[in-house]
Amino acid sequence: MQKKTHIRKTALLAALSVFAITGCGKKPGKNDKAGQAAADSVAVAAREASMPFTLKEGKRLYNHYCFECHGDAGDGSGQYYGVSLTPQPANFTDKAFMKSLTDEKITKVISEGSASVGKSNMCPPWGRTLDKEEIECLVEYVKTFVPK
Ligand code: HEC
Repeated sequence: MQKKTHIRKTALLAALSVFAITGCGKKPGKNDKAGQAAADSVAVAAREASMPFTLKEGKRLYNHYCFECHGDAGDGSGQYYGVSLTPQPANFTDKAFMKSLTDEKITKVISEGSASVGKSNMCPPWGRTLDKEEIECLVEYVKTFVPK
């Protein structure tokens, strides 16, 4: 009788340790990649949740109309970067360059294209696609790429 209980206990312990080894119920830790990725996406979601509407909308529009050339990070390294575009798309992380742009100029480029400010015609005009508010959101969002 006693032996049987002992065996049962051992089996239970073995089962428990398998759970522990396979990571069942393991909490995401700092050193564990999946855990870190989960923590990161929570941080991103929290940051976005606290973003003003203008920037959220700006980001949504940017990711639809601009990122393919200007890149996710705004540095001009979108998927066409260096492949088919000369000149390269503007780099919104360049402090000096961004300082040289006024809101009015960015607005003009977005609605009438880069040719309207004396540049190449490689940045298309969006004035017929986007309305005034949408363009304002984009102007604000584009300025967030500059490192603080
Ligand atoms: C087809 C690729 C492409 C797309 C899409 C695109 N751009 Fe551009 N953009 C460019 C290129 C190339 C330049 C550089 C033009 C030059 O210097 O002649 C540029 C330049 C700019 C400039 C700087 C103009 C200046 O005065 O130097 C701004 C601001 C800009 N783009 C904003 C945007 C925004 C906002 C969007 C989305 C609504 C967008 N672009 C979409 C290619 C693109």
